[in-house]
Amino acid sequence: MKVISIFNQKGGVGKTTTNINLCSYLCMEGYKVLSIDIDPQGNTTSGLGIDKKKLNGSIYDVLTSHMSIKDVIIQSELINNFYIAPSTMELAGAEVELIGRDNRENILKEKIGLIGDDFDFIFIDCPPSLGLLTINALVASNSVLIPIQCEFYALEGVGQLVNTIQLVKKSLNKQLEIEGVIMSMFDSRTNLSNEVVSEVKKYFKNKVYDSNIPRNIRLAEAPSFGLPILLYDGKCKGAESYENLTKEFLRRQK
Ligand SMILES: Nc1ncnc2c1ncn2[C@@H]1O[C@H](COP(=O)(O)OP(=O)(O)OP(=O)(O)O)[C@@H](O)[C@H]1O
Ligand SMILES: [Mg+2]
Repeated sequence: MKVISIFNQKGGVGKTTTNINLCSYLCMEGYKVLSIDIDPQGNTTSGLGIDKKKLNGSIYDVLTSHMSIKDVIIQSELINNFYIAPSTMELAGAEVELIGRDNRENILKEKIGLIGDDFDFIFIDCPPSLGLLTINALVASNSVLIPIQCEFYALEGVGQLVNTIQLVKKSLNKQLEIEGVIMSMFDSRTNLSNEVVSEVKKYFKNKVYDSNIPRNIRLAEAPSFGLPILLYDGKCKGAESYENLTKEFLRRQK
């Protein structure tokens, strides 16, 4: 079992879109996948069509009470082998509630440890911040997947991002590695996109996946229907790109 955080403290770079779609394609390949939504925005939860009003519990309860991850997991009705630990707005209060708690960076790691070896992959969709929720995710993970948006300011904040990973690695989780870097909202027609990719490659070298994710309106529409792209429009460019990324991701696991 491998635990992977999808992390970039910058907002709107494609973390949730990558989480939903990479997980779904991995399920289509026959892997059993759990996606943990640790963002109070709960975009993974709603993007997969889960009604937040009908939950037995959420990741908030897991972090702040005796509830286990298994108590809150929902099996996707859309995709076989896909399980979700949902999040709600309530989670925004957790960072403050956990102040003063012993071992508060390790709560998620401990809870994941109790699941056993039930899944092939666990992905954690991080919020756009460097707070305690993100630290919990990084401490619980074997590796970090970093989406970077192809824009002029792409590398701004990347130093801080890598610094955070290094700090966690040094003091809280020695095994933490960078899984890979995904270039999102790529536009092959512009020089800018290509320049950004080559800048990011100078920094992250072969960690950058060859499969870029293009800017594609269908990818942006799908969550409002509560569907992963493979069910919303499995033939569009965005779907194709996530399918290719999934294959590349799997090749690199060997
Ligand atoms: N490749 C893409 N093409 C077009 N739109 C996209 C693409 N990827 C993501 N989007 C849209 O851009 C917005 C931000 O994407 P997403 O929610 O995946 O980013 P995020 O990093 O999870 O954001 P946050 O930091 O707020 O959690 C969303 O509206 C999403 O639908
Ligand atoms: Mg998100």
